[in-house]
Amino acid sequence: MSIPVEKTSKPKIHPAPDQLGFGQFFTDHMFLMEYSEAKGWHNPRITPYQPLPIDPGACVLHYGQALFEGMKAFSQKNDDVVLFRPQYNCQRLITGATRLCMQAPPADLMLEGIQALVRTDQAWVPKFQGGALYIRPTLIATEAFLGVRPSKNYLFYVILSPVGSYYKEGLNPISIWVEEKYIRAAPGGLGATKAGANYASSLLAAQEAKKKGCAQVLWLDVTHEHIEEVGTMNVFFKIDDQILTPSLNGSILAGGTRDSVIQVLKSWNLPVIERRLSLAEILEAHSQGRLQEAFGTGTAAVISPIGEFQYRDRALIVNGRAIGPLAQKLYKEFTDLQYGEKPDTRQWLMKI
Ligand SMILES: Cc1ncc(COP(=O)(O)O)c(C=O)c1O
Repeated sequence: MSIPVEKTSKPKIHPAPDQLGFGQFFTDHMFLMEYSEAKGWHNPRITPYQPLPIDPGACVLHYGQALFEGMKAFSQKNDDVVLFRPQYNCQRLITGATRLCMQAPPADLMLEGIQALVRTDQAWVPKFQGGALYIRPTLIATEAFLGVRPSKNYLFYVILSPVGSYYKEGLNPISIWVEEKYIRAAPGGLGATKAGANYASSLLAAQEAKKKGCAQVLWLDVTHEHIEEVGTMNVFFKIDDQILTPSLNGSILAGGTRDSVIQVLKSWNLPVIERRLSLAEILEAHSQGRLQEAFGTGTAAVISPIGEFQYRDRALIVNGRAIGPLAQKLYKEFTDLQYGEKPDTRQWLMKI
C-alpha cells in the first residue's frame, strides 16, 4: 500500500520529559483511511494532526459505534524504535469490531499505517527510561443517519502521544477502591472490547474512587461476588505462592500485557492460574496474611503494584504498601525487553 505523507508546515515544540504525564500531548501527524461499501478501505494517508470534519448526524455521535486500541512504541538503547506486540492489538480491534457490527481494516493494513505514522513522527518517541510513544488507533462510524442500525461508512485513524508514567505514583503502589455499587460490564455485553462505551460507563465510579484517594476501581462482576479487572488494567494476586488472575469470561478485556505476563510467569515455572476469583477468597486470604502481592497489568502502566484495597470502610494493606518482588521482577523483565536491554526471544517486538 502506498501511503502519501503530507508533512506539517508548523512542527510543534516537543515537551520536556518531566512535563509529559500521560496522553496530554499529540505529535505532528496522524494516519487516516476510510471505508465505504463501494470502495472498501481506501485513501490511506498521513496528514498534519488536525481536527476531523464530521457530520453532526454521524452515527458514532448518537449510537456509539466507537472502538479504540492502545499500544506503545519504545526507543531502544541502540536507537531502534520498536512496537510491542502490535498484531495483538490489531486483532483485538478486529474482534471488537465484529461485536459492534463495525467494519475494521485488515490487520496488515492497520499495521502498515501505524508503522508509517510512527516512522514519520519518530523524533517524538521519548528516549528516557519509562517514556514511550503511546499509539491510539481509533475506529468510528461516520455515516450520517438517525435510526439504530450499523453504519455503512467508517473512519480509521491513528494518533500518537509521547508519554511518561501513567500514574503519578510511577511504580509505587497504588490504592484501589473495591466497587460494589456500579458495574463496568455484564455477561453478553461489550466488556471484552475496547468500545468507548465501556469507558463512559466507568467514569462515575472512577470519579468517586478518586475522591476517596484511590487511583482506580476494582471492578466486580454483575453479582458483585467475583473479581473482574482494575480500571484500565487486568489484575493479578499472589496467594500462598500461587499467582491468580480472573479467567477471560467475556466481560473482561483480554489484555495484551496480561497475556504476556502469563507467558513470562509460565516460562519462569511459576504456578499461574486463570480462574473465576471471588472477592470473598481474596478478603479471606488477606485477613489470614496469605495475600502476598497484588498488581495490575496494562499497556499504559505496564505493571502497577497495588498497595491497598479500600473495601467499604476498611483499608486492606498489601505487602506493607511496598512494591512486591514479583511485580518488581516482572516490571524489569518487560522494561528490559522494551528498551533493548535484553534479547527479544519471543519475537514480541517489531521494528518500524
Ligand atoms: C479495561 C481494560 N482492561 C485491561 C487493560 C489492559 O490491556 P492491555 O494490556 O492490552 O493494555 C486495558 C488497557 O488497555 C483496559 O482498558
